[in-house]
Amino acid sequence: MALNGFLDIELSVKNPTELGDFWERHGLRRTADGVYGTDQRSAVITVKEGDHRHLSAMHFSTASEVDIVETARRLDALGVASRTTSTTLECNDPVLGHSIRIEVGAPIPLKAVDPRPANRPGDRNRFNQRNASLTPDRRPPRRLGHVVLASPDIEKSTAFYFDGLGFRITDQFVGANATFGRVETDHHNLLIHRSRVGYLNHYALEVDDIDAIGENGAAVVADNPDSHIIGVGRHLLGSNLYWYLRDPSGNMFEFFADMDHITNDEDWAKNHSRSDWGAPTAPAPVQAWGDGPNEAFLAVPDIEEIAQARARRGLP
Ligand SMILES: [Fe+2]
Repeated sequence: MALNGFLDIELSVKNPTELGDFWERHGLRRTADGVYGTDQRSAVITVKEGDHRHLSAMHFSTASEVDIVETARRLDALGVASRTTSTTLECNDPVLGHSIRIEVGAPIPLKAVDPRPANRPGDRNRFNQRNASLTPDRRPPRRLGHVVLASPDIEKSTAFYFDGLGFRITDQFVGANATFGRVETDHHNLLIHRSRVGYLNHYALEVDDIDAIGENGAAVVADNPDSHIIGVGRHLLGSNLYWYLRDPSGNMFEFFADMDHITNDEDWAKNHSRSDWGAPTAPAPVQAWGDGPNEAFLAVPDIEEIAQARARRGLP
């Protein structure tokens, strides 16, 4: 047994009130001071004030007290110090610097909420009623699904998340330049990729379906037309439908739906997982269809500010 849930993250930003207000307008609920959740999760994002935008904490659950002891032992073998009680473990990401908190707990499955009947050829499910309306009810994000982190020491980062914390590898790019990993059944709760400077590439919130992506994304763009980055499209790795946008603190985020789920680890590892994505044998475009990477997706406008803030803390 091992990590079994990716629960929530903490974002440190220069404008925490503005970011909190943004998420309250776009479907999260303020459940405590600086804490924003969904109807089924009391915490998804905690917002704190910081001198530059960065991920400052990740929070996981794990199956048992034995896992706490074994995780601490694995981290120790990597030279990463941790603080434990019988049911909790805390440590710091040795490259990016944010804190990690793990506590013993059971997975929190989501309840299906208001599935909308769809009409397909030969499979009609909605009769005598409209689907689209002038005032669609905007179904909010349900949970945090994953983060993508950029690491200036990809070998050390990969060892920390996969050998130390026990993430399972789903797919990997050639040369281990980027690795998709999971602690739940999602194709990925984490993607970590090589970069000159460490930073949060994006965080991703799961919504119900393609319409919910459209409704939520359109509302964010109505708020600020410059927030659009790329979308909609469907990823190749993970198969998730996506729309990428920028929050008012400058963080890229993703509304996603319909990701691949993996319940048979052995079968995935044997028959689906690849470690040569990006090589000539397995060229891997970002998208199966839809908008692909553009300048806004690939460039990080505030990268030098992030680099300088990290240098002040002695971080790469
Ligand atoms: Fe993503």
